[in-house]
Amino acid sequence: MNFKNDIKISPSILSADYASLKTDIEKVKNGGADMLHVDVMDGHFVPNISIGPPVVKSIRKATDMFLDCHLMISNPYDYIDAFAKSGADLIAFHVESNSDVKETIEKIKKAGIAPALVIKPATEAEAVFPYLKDIAMVLVMTVEPGFGGQSFMTDMLSKITAIREKANEINPNLMIQVDGGIVPETAKLCVEAGADVLVSGSYIFGATDIKKAIDSLR
Ligand code: DX5
Ligand code: ZN
Repeated sequence: MNFKNDIKISPSILSADYASLKTDIEKVKNGGADMLHVDVMDGHFVPNISIGPPVVKSIRKATDMFLDCHLMISNPYDYIDAFAKSGADLIAFHVESNSDVKETIEKIKKAGIAPALVIKPATEAEAVFPYLKDIAMVLVMTVEPGFGGQSFMTDMLSKITAIREKANEINPNLMIQVDGGIVPETAKLCVEAGADVLVSGSYIFGATDIKKAIDSLR
């Protein structure tokens, strides 16, 4: 999948109703979403717990949407095969995790899916530079990971631009995703800074007209 030059929307199911997941996924798909953002939290890397491979497996059966899995877990390396087998299309893991970055990227590639790296707000853009040529996407967290519904951190914008500029030199197809506090106003700032994949949870799932909400982010 090559998303360059066009803005993609990835609704985060963290704000969906897990008891009505299939219906909620159909709503965002019909609303024009380009992929689905699946937030995985282990209660250790972040203070919250969400879902794991069995749910991804069920989602895979329920939809053909591209599954963008964001692992907020301490040891992503140990779970790559489980998520790949469950049907993830892309796995994004944190550079701040305990796993070796290079080895984990290789493991994701070996599983036949797309590797991505995530940085928390306190982590410098430069942390992902050595890996840019080996990955499909960088996710710049625009809130502290762990919970939906937080406010966007404007300070993250310069990191998006720094990564975009570096990627233009070594991997022009690199996607840059932003996650946290994305609403139309902050979406615009991120796109101007160089982002091309926008994750949004509470704004999309909290909307009465989901298609309108997705269109307003694009
Ligand atoms: C936060 C998650 C996000 C979250 C975004 O740790 O990674 O994906 O669902 O939620 P909103 O869009 O409500 O900030
Ligand atoms: Zn996320």
